[in-house]
Amino acid sequence: MSEQTRQRRRRRAPRTPLLIAFLALAAAVLVVLPGSGFAQSEPNAGQQAKQLAVFSWWTGGGEAHGLKKLITIWNKNHPTVPFKNETVAGGAGSNAKAVLAQRLAAKKPPDSFQGHAGAELQDYIKAGQLEPVDSIWKKFKLRQVIPQQLISQITYKGKLYSVPVNIHRANVLWYNPAVLKKAGIKSVPKTWAQFIAALKKAKSADVIPLAVGEQWTQMHLMETVMLATIGPGRYNALWKKGGNWDNAGVKLVLNRYRDLLGYTNSDAASLTWQDASKLVSDGKAAFNIMGDWADGYFRLDLKKKPKTGYGWAPVPGTTGTYLWLSDSFTLPKGAPNRSAAVEWLGFLGSKRAQDTFNPAKGSIPARKDANPKLYGTYLKWALNQWKTNKLAGSLAHGVVANNAWKTDIDTALGLFLRSKDVDKFQDALATAAKRRAA
Ligand code: GAL
Repeated sequence: MSEQTRQRRRRRAPRTPLLIAFLALAAAVLVVLPGSGFAQSEPNAGQQAKQLAVFSWWTGGGEAHGLKKLITIWNKNHPTVPFKNETVAGGAGSNAKAVLAQRLAAKKPPDSFQGHAGAELQDYIKAGQLEPVDSIWKKFKLRQVIPQQLISQITYKGKLYSVPVNIHRANVLWYNPAVLKKAGIKSVPKTWAQFIAALKKAKSADVIPLAVGEQWTQMHLMETVMLATIGPGRYNALWKKGGNWDNAGVKLVLNRYRDLLGYTNSDAASLTWQDASKLVSDGKAAFNIMGDWADGYFRLDLKKKPKTGYGWAPVPGTTGTYLWLSDSFTLPKGAPNRSAAVEWLGFLGSKRAQDTFNPAKGSIPARKDANPKLYGTYLKWALNQWKTNKLAGSLAHGVVANNAWKTDIDTALGLFLRSKDVDKFQDALATAAKRRAA
């Protein structure tokens, strides 16, 4: 080595630690930058995206149409970053959530996954599995167009953790108008007494009075009975710390629920929600209580006309309350194609994406500025209800109880469906609430 080179190196040497210190400082600033949302310090931040892997349970009847529309737009706009549709079949995420939990535990997340706004999303946040997405919200000014009630469900310690794509209504009574006519049910029941009278008439007319499917659909049914029986104020209070499950109101809920099960099909456990809806549309059942994804199924899969092929009303006793839930999408930590996921979330928040997805999915947009003209007869009704109704959050779809609490309820429900023992069920529900309410 020449003396000249040695001198050059000596001159450069003192700069190296300085440079390292500077880079370390810059990295630290990126990690802690308040409100920066998704910090560039994430492992895959600067990498070129090869694809966009999105995890959901929207595989088929009534569920996949909306997603398909989004995929078409995505692939057209991102020819080098194709959409990889990672779906796991099973309504309400009954199978998907377990698969997702395994992937997250193994640190093999998709680029973005479906998570219900509310307690379910908070689980992922508290487990440290999600990145905040405040920057996306800021860039697309989403705070101005998403309702505050929804924002509060996806915020944790002041940061936002997902982009909601829709709002679903859970408390819908679907019916077959021709079957009601045949059974002599002159008007759609509004009160509980009218509902029971209508179910009796359907039974006499030799049709299934109330179609249900696998267990999660029965939990869905149960939450609507809770809302109908004790009203939104007491329903909402049950999910707060100290909520009182050990009272006459809840007892009445469970007795009514048990009675209702007496009007349902005996093969429920082996039917999907689509199977149960189809019983109504085929004229084999009079009623079904399901979320409004059924609207997409009746219309697009079964090609039925609203009002004549299928009808709807609030679940008896729940007029004026929107039992809501929202599908939102996330940015998991360690998303392999992070830049594509960030782009996807921005797209999902857009008016174009929401007004394309929701008319097909059977949901109203999370944004307040949707164009109602693009929505069908049922969804126009739902858009109006959303504006005026009180709100209550869904249990079966992740709003009011986290996964642990919901699992406790589901276990107790499974036992109840066999024993029909109301007292034991109520005890189990009260115990679960004491254990789990945060
Ligand atoms: C809900 C979900 C809806 C719909 C439904 C039936 O949990 O939020 O988008 O897919 O399950 O699977």
